[in-house]
Order: sequence, then structure tokens, then C-alpha cells
Amino acid sequence: MADTHFEDPRLASVYDPLDPDRSDLGVYMAIVDEFAAQSVLDVGCGTGTFACLLANLGVSVIGLDPAAASLAVARTKLGASKVHWIQGDVTALPPLQVELATMTGNVAQVFVDDVEWVSTLSVIRAALTPQGHLVFESRIPEDRAWLRWRRESSLTRVTIPGIGSLEYWVEVTDVQDGLVSFLSTFVFEQDGAVLTSSSTLRFRSEEELAVSLESAGMSVMEFRDAPDRPGREMVFIAQSRD
Ligand SMILES: C[S@@+](CC[C@H](N)C(=O)[O-])C[C@H]1O[C@@H](n2cnc3c(N)ncnc32)[C@H](O)[C@@H]1O
Repeated sequence: MADTHFEDPRLASVYDPLDPDRSDLGVYMAIVDEFAAQSVLDVGCGTGTFACLLANLGVSVIGLDPAAASLAVARTKLGASKVHWIQGDVTALPPLQVELATMTGNVAQVFVDDVEWVSTLSVIRAALTPQGHLVFESRIPEDRAWLRWRRESSLTRVTIPGIGSLEYWVEVTDVQDGLVSFLSTFVFEQDGAVLTSSSTLRFRSEEELAVSLESAGMSVMEFRDAPDRPGREMVFIAQSRD
């Protein structure tokens, strides 16, 4: 089960309007291009922006996410009918082979438990063609992004057609042992509804991520900076050792 933010239909419907700048996907698009990947598995595809972008370029795409409400938003997008959507975590994947797997939008950090993280990576590796690649990002722990997750600095106000005015902010509720918990609050002006979603993310070091990839049968080929968030994100490119 994913967080309320992704599972609640009303919150899933405001995910894209609250974060419309998807320049973060540029680094992934460049890698798809670089490897000339013809088949991509997007793990934690959420509302499907990246999956649809690729499908519209003629790439064969599987978009996987446990949150039905986010997938419902994804299915409304241009190009959605060309994507094979699967609801669930990686255990829901049928036998398949793709040239590239991706986890955009810091999906890697939702796996707070190491056993679940390594078993997810192992299933992804099994879905890769020999020497296939996995690309994902994770926030650099030393940047301590959570210090910016305060009501005053995160407060966002948007007006969304058909939904009306929305206020959104985040507040950190706990930080310990690489785990950061926070509460997201959404206030819908139209009917005064106040919805909240609690989340916990894991901040792994570069070394912890490299070790987990090795345990799952992948080798780190390269780290990149995220051009849109320099010094804040590590972008890992790993390759299956098969
Ligand atoms: C921050 S969103 C990123 C969504 C999308 N990748 C993007 O770039 O917009 C994190 C996503 O991870 C998904 N997620 C949570 N647990 C998951 C799991 N066990 N396996 C795959 N995805 C998961 C959530 O449902 C949510 O859609």
C-alpha cells in the first residue's frame, strides 16, 4: 500500500498540478536516448508522466505502481493507451525482459526497509535483458533536504481548473537513523476539505546504495548529478551482471 498522497483519488488528481515542472525527467530521457532503449519498465510510475512521454516516442513501456488512484490519473494522459499499466509492487510483474528500468521522482526512497529494497532490486534485475540497465535517483543525505520541508518554505498555492484553489505544505515529524517522516497537508478551498498524508523516506548513502545494487546482482556503472537539482540528488546508472 502506497501513501495516501498517491492512493487517495482526490490527492492523486492534484499530484501533477502541484508539481508541474518535470524537468527532473530530462536526465532519464537522455539516458533512454543514450542506451537507445526500446523497452522500459518504470517502477513507481505514479501518474504516468514519464511512461506516457516514452510511449509517445515509440518506446515499449510498462508502468508499474501500487496506487490505483495514481494509475487512474495516468490512464487519462495522452499516449496512455500505448503503455502497459500494472497495479502493484514488483511482485505483480509477469515474466518479462526490458532493456531499461527506471525509478523517477525518488521512488527508491519509499523502500524504507533494506530487505524489501534489495528484493525489489533483485526482481528488477531479473526483468532486465543481459547487461540491461537500471536508472534511479536518491536524495544526497548530506544535503539534508528535510531541513527545507517546513510549512513556511514549502507552502504552495495553486488554482486548478475544475478543482479550485489548493494550499499544500509539508512538515517534518521525525528524523532518525536515515529515516525522515513528514506530514503533507492539502486544503481544498472549494469545500474546505483538509486532507493529510504521512510519509517516511529512507535516505541511503552512496555506499549503501552501491552495496544494495551489488547484493541484487547489479554493478554501478556511473553516478550523475541531476542537472535540475545539482548537489541534491545522486542519479545511479547500474547494469545487470548477467
Ligand atoms: C514521489 S512518487 C513518484 C511517482 C513518479 N515516478 C514520478 O516521477 O512522478 C512515488 C511513487 O512510488 C510509488 N510506490 C510506493 N511504494 C511502491 C512500491 N513498493 N513499489 C513501486 N512503487 C511504489 C507510489 O505509489 C508513488 O506513485
